[in-house]
Amino acid sequence: MITIAVINQKGGVGKTTTCVNLAAELGAMRKKALVIDADPQGNASSGLGFQLDDFKSLYDVLALGEDPKWAIHSTSADRVSLIASNINLVGFDLEMGGAKGREYLLKNALDTVRDEYDVALIDCPPSLGLLTVNALAAADRLLVPLQCEYYAMQGLSLLAHTVQMVRESGVNPDAQIDAILLTMYNPNLRLTREIEAQIREVFGSHVLKTVIPRNVDLAAAPGQGLAIRDWVRNSRGGEAYHELALEVKKLWL
Ligand SMILES: Nc1ncnc2c1ncn2[C@@H]1O[C@H](COP(=O)(O)OP(=O)(O)O)[C@@H](O)[C@H]1O
Ligand SMILES: [Mg+2]
Repeated sequence: MITIAVINQKGGVGKTTTCVNLAAELGAMRKKALVIDADPQGNASSGLGFQLDDFKSLYDVLALGEDPKWAIHSTSADRVSLIASNINLVGFDLEMGGAKGREYLLKNALDTVRDEYDVALIDCPPSLGLLTVNALAAADRLLVPLQCEYYAMQGLSLLAHTVQMVRESGVNPDAQIDAILLTMYNPNLRLTREIEAQIREVFGSHVLKTVIPRNVDLAAAPGQGLAIRDWVRNSRGGEAYHELALEVKKLWL
C-alpha cells in the first residue's frame, strides 16, 4: 500500500475534491483505495455518501486506540473504503498534548491494514496541527492541490518549511512535496497563466501535467454523496480526475 497525503494548509483549494475523485478513479482502475478523512469537518466522508449516526471514526482509532478494521466503512464508490471523520477530532491536538509518540498514531494504524489496500489517501485538514503532522509522518508521497491565485506561492513556501521541519526532526526523513496539482484552473485568466508559469519554473517536474479545470459538476457532486464519475458521465471535471488517476498510477502505483 502506498500512502498519499493530500495536503495544503489553505482551505478551499480542492483537497477533499481531489481525495474523493482520485480514490474513485483509482477504484475504477481496480485499485483498492482507503480514504482517511482527517478533517474534523468530514467533507470527504459525506462526499463519499457516508451517513451513519453511530460509527467508529478516525478519532476512535487515533485517540482511543480502536483497531482500524472496525473503523473502515464502505462508500458509494467501487473499491473505495473510508475511515470517516467526526467532530471529536476537533479536540485531538489539545487532548494529545505532549503524549509520547503522538505523531505516529496514524502511521501505526495504517501499518495494520497495509496488506489490504493498494493505496491510502489522506484528506488533510486546512491547518498545520497534529493531524497534519500525523499525515506527514504516515505518508509515502505528498500531493499538494494548489489554486493559481496571488497567495499560492506564499502558502506553498510555508508548507515547504513545515515539510522540511518534519524531515529534519526525523518524524519522516523522506518527506518532500512530491507533486503539485493545479486546481480550479482557468486558462482564460492572465493571473492563472502567470502564476502557473512561476510555479512550473520553481517546482519543475514536481508540477503534475494534469490540471483540474473549474467545473460546476465537481462542486455539485458532493451534494449527492457521489464522486463525479458516479454522477455525471463525461463531465470535464470527471475527465480531468481520470487523467490525474492515470498520471498518479504511472508515477507511484
Ligand atoms: N475543480 C473545481 N471546480 C469547481 N469547484 C470546485 C473544484 N474543486 C473544488 N471545488 C469546490 O470548491 C470548494 C472547496 O473544495 P474542497 O475540495 O472542499 O477544498 P479543500 O478540501 O481544500 O478545503 C468546494 O465547494 C468544492 O466543491
Ligand atoms: Mg477539505
